[in-house]
Amino acid sequence: MKDFNFLYDNFVATFEAYAKSYADKLKTVPSVLGESMLYSLMNGGKRVRPVLALATAEVIGVPQEDILPYALALEMIHTYSLIHDDLPAMDNDDFRRGKPSSHKAFGEANAILAGDALLNEAYAICLDQSAKGLHFAIAAKYLNECAGVYGMIAGQSADLYFSEKEREITEEDLQFIYEHKTGKLLLAPIVIPAILAGDRNHLPLERFGKMLGTLFQMTDDILDVTGSFDELGKSTGKDENENKLTCVRLYGLEGAKVRADLCAQTCHTLLEGVDGDTAFLNEFVDFVLRRTK
Ligand code: IPE
Ligand code: IPE
Ligand code: MG
Ligand code: MG
Ligand code: MG
Repeated sequence: MKDFNFLYDNFVATFEAYAKSYADKLKTVPSVLGESMLYSLMNGGKRVRPVLALATAEVIGVPQEDILPYALALEMIHTYSLIHDDLPAMDNDDFRRGKPSSHKAFGEANAILAGDALLNEAYAICLDQSAKGLHFAIAAKYLNECAGVYGMIAGQSADLYFSEKEREITEEDLQFIYEHKTGKLLLAPIVIPAILAGDRNHLPLERFGKMLGTLFQMTDDILDVTGSFDELGKSTGKDENENKLTCVRLYGLEGAKVRADLCAQTCHTLLEGVDGDTAFLNEFVDFVLRRTK
C-alpha cells in the first residue's frame, strides 16, 4: 500500500475539488448567507468523513462520482452541526478550525441560518441523487437517519441533557452520546458506499463503523484535556467547564486512554470480517487513535 498520508491527502484533494465546484456556483441574496456557509464549509477541517466515504467506496468498488455527492452532503451536515454546537446556547465556543467560530464572525443569527442553509443544501443534493435510482434513494434516506432525530441530533440532545449538574451518569449514557452525536456521522460514510453497491450484507462494515465512531469521540474527549489550541484549531478544557459527560470524566485520563487503545484494537478485529483491501481503513484506525488534531 502507498503511504497512508499520501493516500489521505489524495482523498482530501479529490473532495476539495468537488466541494469547490459547489462553492463556485453558490450565489445567495443577501451575499452574507453564502459567505457564512462557505466560511465554515470551505475552511479545512480534517475532512475525516469524506475521506472515509471515498476510501470505503474504493474498497467496495463504487465509482467516485457516485459517492462524492454524498460525501459533500455529509460534510455539509457535519459543518452545520459544528456551527450550531459552537453557539452560546450550546457549547459556547469562540474558535473552530483555527478561526473565530461562525457566530463570532457573523453574529449569532447569521450563524444559525448558515447551519440551517447547509442542512438544506445537503438534502437538496440527496434529493437530486435519489432520482438516479433505488439504491441512491436508500443511501439518501440512510444519511437522513444518521443526521436526524434518531442520529446526531439525538446525540447532541443527550450531550446537553447529561451536562446538567444534577444528572446521574452511567457508562450506557456515555455510549449513547458517542453512538449518536459522533458515531452516526462516522457510520454514514462507511455504510453509504455499501448501500450504493447494493450490498445487503454490510453488517461487518456497520460494526466497524460504530466502533470507529466511539474511538473518534474518545480521542476528541481526550484531546480536550491533552491537546493544544494550535493543533486542534479549537479551545481546550471546555468539556470540564461545561460539565460534559466524557470518557475522561467517567474513567479519568489514564482510564480513558486505556479504553481508547482497547477500542482501536476492536476496530482492527472487526475489520478482519470485512471483505476487500482494508489496509487503508486499518491505518485510519491508528491515525484516529494517535491524532493530535
Ligand atoms: C469535531 O469533528 C466534532 C466531533 C464530532 C468530535 P472533527 O474532529 O472531524 O472536526 P473537523 O471537521 O476536522 O473540524
Ligand atoms: C460535537 O462534539 C459533536 C457534534 C458537533 C455533532 P463536541 O462538542 O465534543 O465537539 P467539539 O469538541 O466542540 O469539536
Ligand atoms: Mg458539543
Ligand atoms: Mg463542542
Ligand atoms: Mg469535544
